Amino acid sequence: MRNIVLIGFMGTGKSTVGKRLAQSLAWDFVDTDCEIGEVTSMSVTDIFRRHGETRFRSEERIVVARLSQQEQIVIATGGGTVLNPHNWDILAQNGIIIGLHASLEVILSRIGHKNDRPLLKGPKEAIEKLWSERQVSYARADFTVDTSQKNIDEVVSEILARLGRMENNEFSRVAKD
Ligand code: S3P
Repeated sequence: MRNIVLIGFMGTGKSTVGKRLAQSLAWDFVDTDCEIGEVTSMSVTDIFRRHGETRFRSEERIVVARLSQQEQIVIATGGGTVLNPHNWDILAQNGIIIGLHASLEVILSRIGHKNDRPLLKGPKEAIEKLWSERQVSYARADFTVDTSQKNIDEVVSEILARLGRMENNEFSRVAKD
């Protein structure tokens, strides 16, 4: 059984939804940022501050390579994880890629006040540019759920419904069980 991989911009709900989705399926849940934190004993903010984004992306690649070899886990990626084509390929080889989308306004209202995302520190125009540029990559997901106006349960239900509708697919069986 392959993995379920959640992708999307910061604040779209990947970790919250991923945890709940994993519970519903009785699968394990893994968050790439948390894994990086455990391996390095540093927070994402500290890695960026002390060592820069390049080091963070390198730790991220190692974590993704390891997780891609596992089975039957729900993986919440970081917002930038799948922008690396190699990360995308190995995650997609062993998993279904589900995009979570939210409007920039909703994202900023959810996480704009928080201090734990180095790439959200710039002016609104820079964040907007990042959000826009990344949409092309996120759009390559197997399917996408817009979380802007939905609560966690609604998003999880929609994901399970979409998985259940997939024809002749291992996930349709899982979602219907
Ligand atoms: C990043 C998103 C963050 C984290 C890091 C970089 C990005 O994860 O990986 O701050 O490039 O969008 P979340 O999407 O879970 O906030």
